[in-house]
Amino acid sequence: MKKVWTKTKVGRMNLPHRLAMAPMTRSRANVDGTPGELAALYYSQRASMGLIISEGTQPSEDGQGYLWSPGIYNEAQIEGWKKVIDAVHEKGAFMYIQLMHAGRMSHPENTPHSRQAVAPSAFAPGVQMFTQKGMQEIPEPRALTIEEINTTVQDFTHAAVAAVKAGADGIEIHGANGYLIQQFFAVNSNKRKDKYGGTIENRARFGLEVANAVAEAIGADRTGFRISPGDLAYMGIFEGEESSDFYRYFVPELAKLDLAYLHVMHIGNEELLKEIREMWPNKLLVNRMGRPLEHIDLDIEAGIADVAPIGAWSIANPDLIERLQAGATLNEADRTTFFGGDSKGYTDYPTMNK
Ligand SMILES: Cc1cc2nc3c(=O)[nH]c(=O)nc-3n(C[C@H](O)[C@H](O)[C@H](O)COP(=O)(O)O)c2cc1C
Repeated sequence: MKKVWTKTKVGRMNLPHRLAMAPMTRSRANVDGTPGELAALYYSQRASMGLIISEGTQPSEDGQGYLWSPGIYNEAQIEGWKKVIDAVHEKGAFMYIQLMHAGRMSHPENTPHSRQAVAPSAFAPGVQMFTQKGMQEIPEPRALTIEEINTTVQDFTHAAVAAVKAGADGIEIHGANGYLIQQFFAVNSNKRKDKYGGTIENRARFGLEVANAVAEAIGADRTGFRISPGDLAYMGIFEGEESSDFYRYFVPELAKLDLAYLHVMHIGNEELLKEIREMWPNKLLVNRMGRPLEHIDLDIEAGIADVAPIGAWSIANPDLIERLQAGATLNEADRTTFFGGDSKGYTDYPTMNK
């Protein structure tokens, strides 16, 4: 590990090294969508990650999918995030808020307004999700009207402005993992007959509109975008045979906006990843799902990625950077405390000197 400890500039940020904290939902926010009491401690404990990308945060009531996920669309939430971001800044790290609109990956019982979820088309994902009553089948969503699509784009910009108001260094648009934006991308969740469905150009339109509007509102150099090309085999998303062609169109179009970064949650198509590297002139973040510890730096050393966001290892190790630099043993993540609960598995992982 050599190159991984070199500095780099991403958007407006001068980062101390090439690792970052990947966005991770922890379901510990208050019911009003303000970050929970321990969020400032949790994130600031991990400040040596340099860049912290927050848990998925809904830009509107409609955008909420999971119980106890935070929002960033009203004054109380801005105030709550301000405390978190101030604590992170005080420890010298940068913070991006991930804007996640869950779309159909939601349940009326999980949202403040208890309404039917929205999506490009009225197709249930065919999977279950956690609710107050335990695991339940996700019901069929309703299709957004064109007017509502426009409003949803505005919700993203409103939330991005709110995030900056809370002190965030930028926002990451969640275009991955089967949530609203990828629901527009995928052929099996988007059956629209209007300009937002059908051809690759049409299915890409909503994501590009969101990126464009957010970049205009807060600055392209404060805007990142996450994608997860390929068949996820969960969340009911199937991008189909032309998945690679979709990203061969989408990535260069997105590149025209000159965003701070593109974040790829990489699932397996190495050839496509290489192509994305070539198509994307700005900073590329690559998060490899389930990567073993000894492979953490591989993409940086190989020049495939500029930054490697780390998920589970950074939950389990508040001092991940120091441990890696010292060659120390890492704590294993306790998966039973990933979602919901209190300080256990959140702020109580020991550092190596404890
Ligand atoms: C508990 C948990 C919550 C997650 N929540 C999100 C999320 O809110 N947004 C997102 O884009 N990815 C989310 N992910 C995916 C991670 O960002 C990352 O892509 C994944 O964990 C693979 O990286 P890792 O092997 O380093 O953990 C989550 C992962 C975990 C483990």
